[in-house]
Amino acid sequence: MTSRQLTVDLAVVGTGVAGLTAALRAAELGLRVVAVTKTAVGDCNTRWAQGGVAVVLPGTGDSVDAHVADTLAAGAGLCDEVAVREILAAGPAAVSALRDCGAVFDGDAGDLERTREGGHRAFRVVHAGGDATGAEIERALVGAARDGRLPLVEGQSVTDVLRDDTGRVAGLALLGDGCGAGVLRARAVLLATGGLGRLYAVSTNADGATGDGLALALRAGAMTADLEFVQFHPTVLYVGAGARGRQPLVTEAIRGEGAVLLDTTGFPVMTGVHPLGALAPRDVVAAAITTRMAQTGTDHVLLDATRLGGAVLRHRFPTVHAACMACGVDPARVPIPVAPAAHYQCGGVVTDTSGRTTVPGLYAAGELARTGLHGANRLASNSLLEGLVMGARAAVAVAADLAVSPRPGPPLPPRERYPVADRDAVRHSMSAYAGIGRDAAGLAAASAVARATTRRRLRTPRDAEDAGLTLAAAAVLAAASARTESRGCHLRTDHPRAAVRWRRSITVMLDAEGVPMVAQPMPVGGVA
Ligand code: SIN
Repeated sequence: MTSRQLTVDLAVVGTGVAGLTAALRAAELGLRVVAVTKTAVGDCNTRWAQGGVAVVLPGTGDSVDAHVADTLAAGAGLCDEVAVREILAAGPAAVSALRDCGAVFDGDAGDLERTREGGHRAFRVVHAGGDATGAEIERALVGAARDGRLPLVEGQSVTDVLRDDTGRVAGLALLGDGCGAGVLRARAVLLATGGLGRLYAVSTNADGATGDGLALALRAGAMTADLEFVQFHPTVLYVGAGARGRQPLVTEAIRGEGAVLLDTTGFPVMTGVHPLGALAPRDVVAAAITTRMAQTGTDHVLLDATRLGGAVLRHRFPTVHAACMACGVDPARVPIPVAPAAHYQCGGVVTDTSGRTTVPGLYAAGELARTGLHGANRLASNSLLEGLVMGARAAVAVAADLAVSPRPGPPLPPRERYPVADRDAVRHSMSAYAGIGRDAAGLAAASAVARATTRRRLRTPRDAEDAGLTLAAAAVLAAASARTESRGCHLRTDHPRAAVRWRRSITVMLDAEGVPMVAQPMPVGGVA
């Protein structure tokens, strides 16, 4: 173990929208900050976000109340209404700050263009580059970070959040290819590592979305909640049964602009399913597609966007158009084959609306954090907004907390060995048993795979990732096994209905042996 010889006020882990927003704001507030990523800066889920940012703009006839109502309806009874209102009300200022930082949205010269996505009853999703919103946000934030000479440490995996002998956060244990293990001392750590879509064999997520932050937070003693709610995006380009890894998204905004969902016999999938039809909340659409695929004995359905015409598809949806054309599908002429795939982690590390976790000195923001905004099913395009709002708020909270907190003592050494399961076996069993339609037997089988571990020293970044995904999968499975009802993204074939007694969040922490255990159920409204 070598020391990286650096002591900072704040170490931010992750360089997506939440991480970079936090790091930039922390630097503005005068904190010594460093942003660490296991890959290259910008190589994360933010880049792949298409649809946009859901935000209520002045003068549009929309209201925060209406946005709150849509978010609560999508969240299926598990949102924290206070957090929802606080985060959504902060949206317009967060989008302005992002535009000040250089992000250019469509219609920027006048009124921003707005579209609709699943679960929204108003046109309130602003977008950039047509369907390349995440890429534009990432471009602006990375540009600002580089212009401001924000220290960016690439290619360093974090194996542990280190604490001192009082339990306060004191730094990070790092592991880099070619430079071995080391310690970065920090008075505060903000985890913004994104989600865990890559626990599944097929996902819309970047390679690195393997649940690292969830594992780090759990090992540091943090409380997590709502982990069973893994959102599947209903329309991911279907390129064949053998597809593995990240698959191209086909944004919901295409449905917002008039594309329709058909089964392979040409029958509309959403007829009679929900009053919002093809723009129902995402969990409803993904479940309806899954049911229809089972009924028709196929592994995909069709998204017919031909009525939009070639020019609109090329200019308004250039990313989707290019992905389809690369697979030999001209969306102006033929319907696009699509199927649901793992997309978003609705739960995560429990935080307040300033990003504080239950561990002193540890903060979380973005997809990894469970603020109470998403409940059992995230409303489309609320996530980039949450990353912007919560990244900035967490930085402010760190600055305020450090002004009155004692300095941490020397970090205790990281553990020597970590339980690691076989990543391909974990992915296979998560896909087979923890997707849309789960039951007790399947969840038990998947848990057995995630718990068939050997205790290993972590010698390479890939080892670190394997240890993280093993623990993250076990934690998701513990929560999914405990929730014996269906709600939001958690669809149990053996408990097909929602139950009033389950209108509460399930929290997961590690027991003394480091095994995820379902801890206290949490009432709607958040941590007491
Ligand atoms: C999409 O564009 O359909 C995805 C947006 C999101 O996940 O919020």
